[in-house]
Amino acid sequence: MEEKNHIYPIFDRMMTRRDKEELLGQHSVMIWFTGLSGSGKSTIAIALERELHKRGLLCRILDGDNIRSGINNNLGFSETDRVENIRRIAEVSKLFLDSGIITIAAFISPNNDIREMAANIIGKDDFLEIFVSTPLEECEKRDVKGLYAKARKGEIPNFTGISAPFEVPEHPALSLDTSQLTLEESVNSLLELVLPKVKNIK
Ligand code: ADX
Repeated sequence: MEEKNHIYPIFDRMMTRRDKEELLGQHSVMIWFTGLSGSGKSTIAIALERELHKRGLLCRILDGDNIRSGINNNLGFSETDRVENIRRIAEVSKLFLDSGIITIAAFISPNNDIREMAANIIGKDDFLEIFVSTPLEECEKRDVKGLYAKARKGEIPNFTGISAPFEVPEHPALSLDTSQLTLEESVNSLLELVLPKVKNIK
């Protein structure tokens, strides 16, 4: 009995990230998009996922559609709520990373402190910050959701870029301005950055 107790805990441990990465034949990494509303974060995220998937790589996208409508549906856009939004997203992302999955987040994440918090939760070595740097004028011109017009009329308080700040990231791994680059060009730059990090698992 005594002896059994000494052996048993070995079988009691959860499978590790490394085990899962081996199972999937890939390394996991966090691809963290930041940028204004309408800058193109989700569009690029979706196109990138498609390309990685084609190459046999398993990804998970987290964006407003699946996070702000579900796990974070009790949060708004005050500073405190934005911090909590990103904190939960980073914690959820970590669970995916620990499952060996390439995790792609597309949230405004408007300031350095917020992005720093996310990087610390996830671990800086795994954190690739991608700045979708499309200028405000272009995002506002597109106004896909009609929110900039409303924000200008004062109908949406704390709207990023209009009545709430957006701090430009200091050292992003990559900047992509979708007013200058085609979607294909943006995705190609990302593939160049990401593929060497996720492939060639031994
Ligand atoms: S974040 O600042 O907390 O990272 P998040 O990316 O989750 O923001 O949500 C941004 C999306 O919510 C925008 O693309 C827009 O559709 C919507 N939204 C609603 N109100 C606001 C607001 N006050 N500021 C920015 N985006 C808003």
